[in-house]
Amino acid sequence: MTKKIGLIVGSLRELSYNGMIADTIPELVENAEYEHIAIAELPLYNADLDHGDGPDAVKLFREAIRRSDGIIILTPEYNSGTPGVLKNALDWASTPTKTAVLIKKPVAVVGATPGVKGTILSQQQVRQTLEATQSYVLPHQKMYISEIIHKVDQESRKLTDETTRKYLQRYVQSFVQWIDQADRLNS
Ligand SMILES: Cc1cc2nc3c(=O)[nH]c(=O)nc-3n(C[C@H](O)[C@H](O)[C@H](O)COP(=O)(O)O)c2cc1C
Repeated sequence: MTKKIGLIVGSLRELSYNGMIADTIPELVENAEYEHIAIAELPLYNADLDHGDGPDAVKLFREAIRRSDGIIILTPEYNSGTPGVLKNALDWASTPTKTAVLIKKPVAVVGATPGVKGTILSQQQVRQTLEATQSYVLPHQKMYISEIIHKVDQESRKLTDETTRKYLQRYVQSFVQWIDQADRLNS
């Protein structure tokens, strides 16, 4: 069956490079359905608000993750770590403890930066968080995109560098297979 993949971008910027990578994925791997899952409207995590379904934005966010077969997180790196807005979103997706939407959810992590180190540190922190949320993170393979400024077209807002497009295509194809493997782990 066609897999539904949710795309979560850890940047709120309109011209986000990570957003451009997210927008490129559907044209690289066409045998899946995609949904952008927005995080901009989420309140700052506050356990006092976290009862029942939580605030409306949180309810919508959790429902979008729940109906996705897998999630691809696309993250910048801020000060050698994960942007606060993304960590905040993952925290909302990590509760209630026993029924949280990230438990056993297949997740892949991608990151793009104008710098040379490809968001290694940010992705490390995201993976550490996803271990705590008991998510099924795509093992071994990593997708670090450095010097992104030279690899996108500012007008179409898409990834245009051929080598990076091929790596990304292979990475997302592996993730689609990983969703199937994770399904078998659950059954
Ligand atoms: C507060 C702040 C801290 C940053 N720290 C890093 C960093 O540690 N490593 C890095 O590669 N880029 C860093 N950057 C640059 C971002 O990678 C760059 O702004 C990038 O374009 C953000 O991703 P986006 O285009 O998806 O919004 C930082 C940017 C900001 C605003």
